[in-house]
Amino acid sequence: MISEDSIFEIECIDGAKGLSSLPDKSVKLIYGSPPYPNADRNYGNWASNEYIDKISPFIDEAKKKLRDDGFLVINIKANRERATTSLNSRRSLVVEKLAILLEEKWGFYCVDIEIWIKDNPVPTGLRVACQDAYEQNLWFSVSPKWKINLDAIRRPYDAESLKAYANNEYKPRHNGLSYVRKAKYIVPNPKGALPLNVIKGAVSGKQGEHQAMQPGYIPEKYILATTSKGDLVVDPWVGSGTTGYEAIKLGRKFIGFDISQEYVAISNRLITELIDIMSTKAKVSKQREIIQRKFVEALGSAVKSHSDFDERPLAVDITEPIRTKLIVYIFPATHPPGGRSADEYKFNLAAPNQERGQKGNFDNSEGIVVLASYEEELDVFVLYDPEKHKDFAYNANVQCKSSLLYDALDNKVAFATKNNGEVLMAARPEYLLQALRHRLFD
Ligand SMILES: C[S@@+](CC[C@H](N)C(=O)[O-])C[C@H]1O[C@@H](n2cnc3c(N)ncnc32)[C@H](O)[C@@H]1O
Repeated sequence: MISEDSIFEIECIDGAKGLSSLPDKSVKLIYGSPPYPNADRNYGNWASNEYIDKISPFIDEAKKKLRDDGFLVINIKANRERATTSLNSRRSLVVEKLAILLEEKWGFYCVDIEIWIKDNPVPTGLRVACQDAYEQNLWFSVSPKWKINLDAIRRPYDAESLKAYANNEYKPRHNGLSYVRKAKYIVPNPKGALPLNVIKGAVSGKQGEHQAMQPGYIPEKYILATTSKGDLVVDPWVGSGTTGYEAIKLGRKFIGFDISQEYVAISNRLITELIDIMSTKAKVSKQREIIQRKFVEALGSAVKSHSDFDERPLAVDITEPIRTKLIVYIFPATHPPGGRSADEYKFNLAAPNQERGQKGNFDNSEGIVVLASYEEELDVFVLYDPEKHKDFAYNANVQCKSSLLYDALDNKVAFATKNNGEVLMAARPEYLLQALRHRLFD
């Protein structure tokens, strides 16, 4: 069983045996893709005629280990039976059989059988039926009175629905089946439209690590709908660890099993890398919060209001030196900068939501942009000229001479001009407002 202080564990073991080692009624969601019926893979072939026997030990254990408010979701595709000289290749009905048995034999309740429609299905060359382009997600509940979090999986409204809501008055129908009680306008739910029982999207672009790696948006939907932060999610056929990756990303705990040592190693690696990235991001955002707070505190009574300190960019309404709204992009300055000359301070410039490979720009639609850095040891802010930073590369290095920061220790506001003509101002917190006055008016 997963220890108190760890958030994930992956073991190389038969998944049914692995499940049996967990405490009864401890798991909120069991989500997984078993080997698909009739699929020839390097991890074997579970033929339709033996499929129910092979999957039964997993379902027996799942039933014992799920909490009373737990859910089982099986992502599966029914491959076709082999053709013979007298019979075309028929579609296997073993998935439908499994769905029926989940209710009739194991006593689960069917929430739904959802469909994943693939944007880019692999061509089959089949001539006796249409091209195969979907998989099924068998979604079952332990409890007959289940609760799911629909708000967590709402989707954006399409433009047509929004237009219809804005322009139409809905009148009650007179057949007793009315969906509105009195004439009214329907206001769209701010959290989005109701989710559909159909998922559309591309097959994973990361195939290669594993023969049947699935895209993260499929487990993500069920994790969001059926679990809360801290809940335990288990995948007994973990493969490359997609379920674990999504569970950890969403703050859940995760246990996975697979019979292949190679796949256990891959999923361990991918999830560990994710945790490293998440902890670096958490540190960066904590640091940003601290320096954004510092910036606002330095402006003192000139600040009328500001956005939350963890918001990016920070919005600050000021009354001095003019009444306006600042849109502040502020970064921690480091010294000596890696690989650069030791007499410089630098920061890495990136806009919120800017991805690697994309160009970044500041959003000046809501106020005046301020680009700043803050160096903690010297306790000095530097104000840059945002006009000189357009279409910047992701994590672009922006630097200034150390002498500017040292000058700020002896002067109220220190100035420097870079080779490209950019004028910089540096100041300790007590003179930040003065430096800002120069930035806005000089
Ligand atoms: C369809 S793949 C799962 C892919 C996974 N969802 C992903 O995104 O990478 C099925 C996995 O079940 C594993 N498997 C097969 N028999 C198993 C068993 N008895 N116990 C545990 N895992 C098993 C295979 O090694 C394979 O990785």
